[in-house]
Amino acid sequence: MSDKAILEYGGGRYEFPVIKGTEDELAIDIKTLRAATGMVTLDPGYKNTGSCESEITFLDGEKGVLRYRGYSIEDLAEKADFLEVAYLLIFGELPNKEQLEKFHNDIKEESQVDEEMKKILDGFPKSAHPMGVLSSLTSALVAFNPSCVDVSSELAMYNSIVRILAKFPVLVAWTMRKKKGLPLDYGDDSLGYVENIHKMMFKRPNQEYKRDSIAIDALDKLLILHADHEQNCSTSTVRIVGSSHAGLFASLSAGISALWGPLHGGANQAVLEMLEAIEADGGDTKKYMAKAKDKNDPFRLMGFGHRVYKNFDPRAKIIKKSADEVLGSLGIDDPILDIAKGLEKEALEDKYFVDRKLYPNVDFYSGIIYRALGIPTEMFTVMFALGRLPGWIAQWREMRLRKEPIGRPRQVYIGETLRSFVPLEKR
Ligand code: ACO
Repeated sequence: MSDKAILEYGGGRYEFPVIKGTEDELAIDIKTLRAATGMVTLDPGYKNTGSCESEITFLDGEKGVLRYRGYSIEDLAEKADFLEVAYLLIFGELPNKEQLEKFHNDIKEESQVDEEMKKILDGFPKSAHPMGVLSSLTSALVAFNPSCVDVSSELAMYNSIVRILAKFPVLVAWTMRKKKGLPLDYGDDSLGYVENIHKMMFKRPNQEYKRDSIAIDALDKLLILHADHEQNCSTSTVRIVGSSHAGLFASLSAGISALWGPLHGGANQAVLEMLEAIEADGGDTKKYMAKAKDKNDPFRLMGFGHRVYKNFDPRAKIIKKSADEVLGSLGIDDPILDIAKGLEKEALEDKYFVDRKLYPNVDFYSGIIYRALGIPTEMFTVMFALGRLPGWIAQWREMRLRKEPIGRPRQVYIGETLRSFVPLEKR
């Protein structure tokens, strides 16, 4: 097979190298396209555009495969914990015992947030959406940690990374505690990373915190499943903001905003609201299936479909099983789970969904578990952000270490050509 792609246009013949990834993915390297031909490519939504070469996450949407640094998501969800996965994603290898311990200790050293940050949180109304609050608080952290902006050495990068891995869960917990009217509190450095997150979120002021291993394991697994997903909307945002050297925290804050939308991470909240609405409407799934297929109705089956997966989202399979186990262990019989299963069954047998290769995605069942764990619906996307944090960090670090240029797409201008200015009184 040729390792060059040929473009013929306007009598010219241009050659471009073809690059092959380690999983045999092929890409035409068009870095010289504009210089050689004067043309750019046009690809709204970037359906065919690779923005970078990356060693972090591999996914094959046709086969339903997802791997972090070469390890299958199924293996990691079953055998690793979230902190190990975070280390793996960021630094490329699973940590040994000493490396993991040092990593965790370094995080613990940074696990307090400046008390002044509470005043910022205080300024938000209780009704504020937690994603807006989280994005703002993450941005505000820059002011209290200015040394995290200019990170030219690997050590400076490492320091920023452990800082945010330490402080972000505090912000997440505070965001939820504010919503619930609970006092803002800290965790306990003697606990595991996820156990500590659970404590920070749920500890009641007048009760001793009791370890809930079912909840902690479920949370750990959900965080692992959300930890990275290569160049999606929020990750690309983090990389592109970071490419201006804006700093890690500012890049993450932008990523949180990108994740918020219902077509991306906000889908987990939208799924649960949809399932609740179907239940309140009598549980008639057929009616909602019909609405989803009706092109004159804006309703979409939330939690279905994916830009890359044209087969089962492997994360959805794991989460569906986990939802059954968690609800079973907690003794919860949630009618919403039955509605979700009913919708899934109908969709998988329906020509509209089959033809368009629409399968349940990661968000279809995650909200049901979050709800069982006592997490408010509006916090679901925040939980996604918490899980995605190591992935965003890993992608940002890779982008900086590879010294990628500032992200700056081209466009095809289709507006007015030059015209004469018309004074106000003549318009
Ligand atoms: N319900 C009904 N129809 C759908 C759905 C859905 N959930 N998703 C896609 N379709 C239809 C579209 O109407 C379109 O039909 P057409 O070809 O007849 O016009 C076709 O399937 C292709 O859909 P696109 O929107 O072009 O696919 P795209 O790759 O741009 O969008 C997306 C993917 C945004 C995820 C879409 O499937 C969607 O809106 N799903 C619901 C929201 C959701 O669950 N988002 C979470 C994604 S996972 C994540 O971000 C973590």
